[in-house]
Formats: sequence, C-alpha cells, structure tokens
Amino acid sequence: MSHEEFPTDTPAVVTCGLPYANGDLHIGHLRTYVGGDVYSRALESLGQRTTFVSGSDMHGTPVAVNAEKAGTDPESFALDWHEQYEETFPRFDVEFDNYGHTHDATNTDLTREFVRTLEENGHVYEKEIKVAYDPEADQSLPDRYVEGTCPYCGAKARGDECDEGCGRHLEPGEVENPRSTVTGNPAEYRDQTHKFFRVSAFKEYLSGFLDRLEGTSNARNQPREWVEGELRDWCITRDMDWGIDYPEIEGEEPTDLVLYVWVDAPIEYVSSTKQYSERVGADEYDWVEAWQEDGEIVHVIGRDIIQHHTVFWPAMLHGVDYDEPRAVMASGFMTLDGDGFSTSRNRAVWAREYLEEGFHPDLLRYYLATNGGFQQDVDFSWEKFRDRVNNELVGTVGNFLYRSLLFAHRNFDGTPDADVSPEVESRIEEAVDEFAAGVNDYSVRAVGNATVELARFGNEYIQREEPWNLVGEDEEAAAQVIRDCVQLARAVAVLFEPVAPGKSQELWEKLGEDGSVHEVPADAALEAPPREFGHPEELYEKIEDDRVEELNEKLERRVAEAAGDDDDAESDGDDDAGTETDEVTASGEADVSEFEPIESDRISFEEFQELDLRVGEIVSAEPIPDADKLVALAVDIGVETRNIVAGLKQLHDVEALAGTPVVVVANLEKAELFGHESNGMVLAAGEDADLLTTHEDSEPGTRVR
Ligand code: MF3
Ligand code: ZN
Repeated sequence: MSHEEFPTDTPAVVTCGLPYANGDLHIGHLRTYVGGDVYSRALESLGQRTTFVSGSDMHGTPVAVNAEKAGTDPESFALDWHEQYEETFPRFDVEFDNYGHTHDATNTDLTREFVRTLEENGHVYEKEIKVAYDPEADQSLPDRYVEGTCPYCGAKARGDECDEGCGRHLEPGEVENPRSTVTGNPAEYRDQTHKFFRVSAFKEYLSGFLDRLEGTSNARNQPREWVEGELRDWCITRDMDWGIDYPEIEGEEPTDLVLYVWVDAPIEYVSSTKQYSERVGADEYDWVEAWQEDGEIVHVIGRDIIQHHTVFWPAMLHGVDYDEPRAVMASGFMTLDGDGFSTSRNRAVWAREYLEEGFHPDLLRYYLATNGGFQQDVDFSWEKFRDRVNNELVGTVGNFLYRSLLFAHRNFDGTPDADVSPEVESRIEEAVDEFAAGVNDYSVRAVGNATVELARFGNEYIQREEPWNLVGEDEEAAAQVIRDCVQLARAVAVLFEPVAPGKSQELWEKLGEDGSVHEVPADAALEAPPREFGHPEELYEKIEDDRVEELNEKLERRVAEAAGDDDDAESDGDDDAGTETDEVTASGEADVSEFEPIESDRISFEEFQELDLRVGEIVSAEPIPDADKLVALAVDIGVETRNIVAGLKQLHDVEALAGTPVVVVANLEKAELFGHESNGMVLAAGEDADLLTTHEDSEPGTRVR
C-alpha cells in the first residue's frame, strides 16, 4: 500500500460490508452500498485501477436464527436472500465487479487456508472456556442464541455484541445474566475447549496501524481505546452446525467446531476479488498484487462494525502476511422520520418498494450520498427527500441543464462554434479538483457537491449573461455564453456519473455523445461536446406534495398493521444499518410485549438500601466527540460535583441540559468511557432516555429511597 494521493500506480480494492443473507433490504441498508459504489466509480474517474467487491454473509447465528424462525434450513434460506441481493444491488446501479457469498468454494477454501496459516505462524491456541448452554434445548448458545447485560456498559446485549450500548464485541461467556433466546430460560455455563486467535500479540502493530489508517475519523478514533486498553484474544470457533468447519490441523484431533462467522466473512473480500481476477485475467486485475503486494484497500462499512475492521481483521491480515487496509470509511446510522428502521414493525422503506413507487434510483443515491457527511447520522423522510430532489436536482441541476441546452438547441442546433471562456474553463477545473479532493478525503458528499455547485454556478452565469437578450443583438456574445453553458453541461454529465450514473448517461446521450459516460475520466470534463444535438428533455421531475402525503400514509398504515398482528415482537431481521430499535406503535401506545419482562429474582430491602440514590442537578453538559450517544456531564450532588458520562446525545438538546434536576446512583463503581471518567449514573427511562427527576424541589444531595 502507498499513502500517495489517488490515482496511484497500484491497484485499489473497494469493498462493502457483507450483508447478512437473512432478510429484506431497506434503504437504510443501502447507504453503505451506495457510498461504496459512488466511491469506487469516483476512483475510476480519476484513472485509478479499481475493483469493487462484496458478497453475502451466509453463516453465523444471524442467519441460523432467522432461518429457524422461517422454518427452513440455513443454507437454502441464505441462498434465497443472496439471490435477491444479487438482483437488488444492480437495480440501484450498485455495480459490484464481483458479488460472491461466504459459503462458496472460493471462500471456504481460502478461509481454511487463512486459518491454517495463522496456526502455522503460531497465532492460534486452544483454551477451555465457559460457554452458555440451554439445558432444556440441550444446545450451546453462541452469539445471538443468548442475550443478557453488557459487562462494560450495562446495556442489554447479544452474546457477541453490545448492539444497543457501547457497541463492543463480546467474547463467549462475557454477557452477564445470560438468557437463552431459544427457550427464554436463564442459561447455564459449561466448559468447552475453543480456539483463540492471539490478538493481544498484535497490540503494537495495531496501534501503528491506527496511526496510518485513512478514511473517516470515527474508524481511527473509536478503536483506539480498545487497542490501547486491555486487548483480548479472540475466540474464533463456535459450537454449532452452520458455518465453515474448522480445518484439520496436522497432529491434532479434528474438532466439531465451526469458525466464528466474523472469521470467514471479511475473507470474502479477498475471495470475491480473487473470483473477479480469475474472470478477467490477472493481466487486467491481479488479486495477489492487490491483497499481498501493494493494493490500496478501502473498506466501506457501517460504524457498528468498526471494531471488526480495525482490530480483528487487520490482525488477521497481518498474521497471514497480507497487505493492510489503507482506509476504512464508516458511515453513520440512518433513521426514518427520526426513529429507527424496524424490520419486525415493518417500519421501513424497502429497497424494492422504493423502485416500485416509480422513483429513479439516482434520486435516492443522491440523497444517501450527500445528505450529511459519511460518518454523520442521516434521517430519511419523504418530505426531506422531496425537498432535496425538488430544490437541488430539479431546481439547480435539472433547471440549468434544461434551460441552457434548450437555448443551445433552438438557436445553434447544438454547440456554438467558439472556445470556452477562461472564466468557465477555470470554474470547471475547480470542480474537477473538488471532485478529486473529495475522493482523497474519503468524502462521497464532496464528490456529489462538486457537481451541484458547478450547476449552481451555471445558473448564475446564464442569469448574469442573459443570452436571451444577446440573440439578434450580439450573436458572437450569445454564442460565447451558450458555448460555455454546453461545456458546463458536459462537465455535469462527467462529474455526476458516480452519484447519478443513469441520469448522467441520459444527459450524455442528449448531448449527442456516444458510448458510456462511465468510461469517461473526470478531466475529460473539459473536452468539447459534439457540434449538434437535439431537443433536451427535463432530466429530473418534481415530486408533488400529495405524493409525499400518500407515501407517509402508506408507511403509517403498514406500521399499524404490523403492530396489530405482531405476535413476534422479537423477530427483527438484522440491523447492520444499525438502525433497528424497538419502539411504540404508530398510535403512540406502547404494546405490552414491548416491555422487558420484570426480573424474576426478588432482592431484599437491605440489598435495595445498598443503592445510594441522590438528587442532583446537571451543571454542564458536553457531547463527547466520536461517541454516538455519550455526553460528559458535571452533576452537582450536594456533597460534591461529579463527572458522569451518560448516553443522551441524540435524545436531548445537550446545550439545554444544564440546570436539569436528575436522580443519580452515587455509589456505582467508577468507569472510563471514551477517555472520560464516569463517577456515577444518571437515571433515565427507556429508549428515549427520559430523565428521572423529583416532583418538588428537593435539594441536590437529598437521598432517594
Ligand atoms: N454481515 C456483517 C454485518 O452485517 C458484516 C460483515 S462484513 C465483513 O454486520 F467484514 F465481515 F465482511
Ligand atoms: Zn456495552
């Protein structure tokens, strides 16, 4: 890998996090795929040799659990979804050069080879550990088969991830108060021998790796504390049937265990590149060069899987002497109308549904690529979608193209005979530079905005020069203005291709150009367009208000229906967009099945007395950068002022928190979160972190009992 600016002489690989083949795709899932696609197209426009790969993630409990619910076997279940994804992505012009899956022979073989090499290089050892077990179901409870409390932050957690709290990966046996998701019974712990990857030995390597890593800042900052804190070894086997069998190791008894899904999933990035390379030939693209010599590896992922991509995966690559990733681009989460997407509640805009409603994929691509920076959270609503389409795509880009091309066609049958003016030439060069800078800053938004701003300039330019007043008065001056506008239109077609490939191709053809605009490099934005072209058409159509109303009603009705026949509130599909939260029904009423069951174990009064609860008052509140939800509070509890970290960021106006009376657990052990001491806990109710307070004005320091 180099750290030179793109384009480099070395080959690039852009990957997207593999979707679990376990449920329907909604537009929240599409964010990272569109981001990856825009990014890889933009790299190609800069002349970078690039391949763009992904595949379906077929193994693990996310697939096994959902297959069971669907009453089928994991293999055919996952294959069905795989086929659907394979069809769906291209319909959004997310064009992978290769889209495989983790259960195919390429990946199975390569995964075993990776593991054997790790074994040979001394990075793997065996250890007896306690694993969760369900005596009634008589089975081990890996990962999603068990739920409990996160030992780090106290949030409700799955067996292998604290998906609603601190986001950490959890090792087998770590989750507290484990409960089987098969029977709902408390789980027992049993001894079992497993294989461990010695991640702890890579501490120094990983710390240097994070220093070198490019991409979004969250991907560098978030793992810092994990790598520099106690770096734990990683259990890489599971006691279940579905998965890749652990390879036979010379001189060892074969084991019945399968590999943990997070071992074989990222290896699919390599396998998929290998398949591509074998298809096109190593002369055109050599996977060995890309992965083992000097590739520019760029991973595009959701931010819930940063730890896997910046700790476990680079350690694995280093352990088998492969190249390290150059960059990780980790996207923020997506919400729908301010709340999480929810598969079980049918609260989503499904990918297929979006298309069936007749919207062009480029509208959504534009929205997803440019609405906020890549690492920021993005909210989707049909209103916001309408506004951005109507104001930016119709009002700015479409309007400029239509008025200038219509004028050119009517008065000059196409491109007037003149040279582009220095002003417009340098404005286009500036857009090309912004585009290239966007790529080198890993900002798909900057790539998209470069074109919209260019079109905005075009509108100002035509408005200022008023060619309609020049025609018949000063033909030469009119020709100059229109010549400039046609060049701007051509630049829009070329530079907008990564974000809006379909619409750019339409424009390209309208301009009388041949071939595919996809093949045209960014700096060709300045080449002359053909002499003649026909009557233009409006490229983008306005979205009317009644459409928005209709779509909102549809969504509401659906959510209400799902709530009506919802006997399986837990049946969420996967949440790799990180956006699925359970919530109240559309009518605002909570559904009883939503509440956590009351703890069955009673505590004594004495035990309760051990809790030291105090009235407090928030003195100041500061959001913690790079932590999604966390706010650093100073809380006056009478006796003293405490520093407390609380998960309130998205749920409250942080600036308005000072002065709020709260209830504090004053004798909770201290913790450190994102480098901030947390000396106590502020009590709050539910997903919305509704802060607890007192009814009258008890002073800070008053004991609550
Ligand atoms: N399927 C995983 C998820 O949705 C992502 C796997 S990405 C890879 O969270 F790195 F493992 F490939
Ligand atoms: Zn946690």
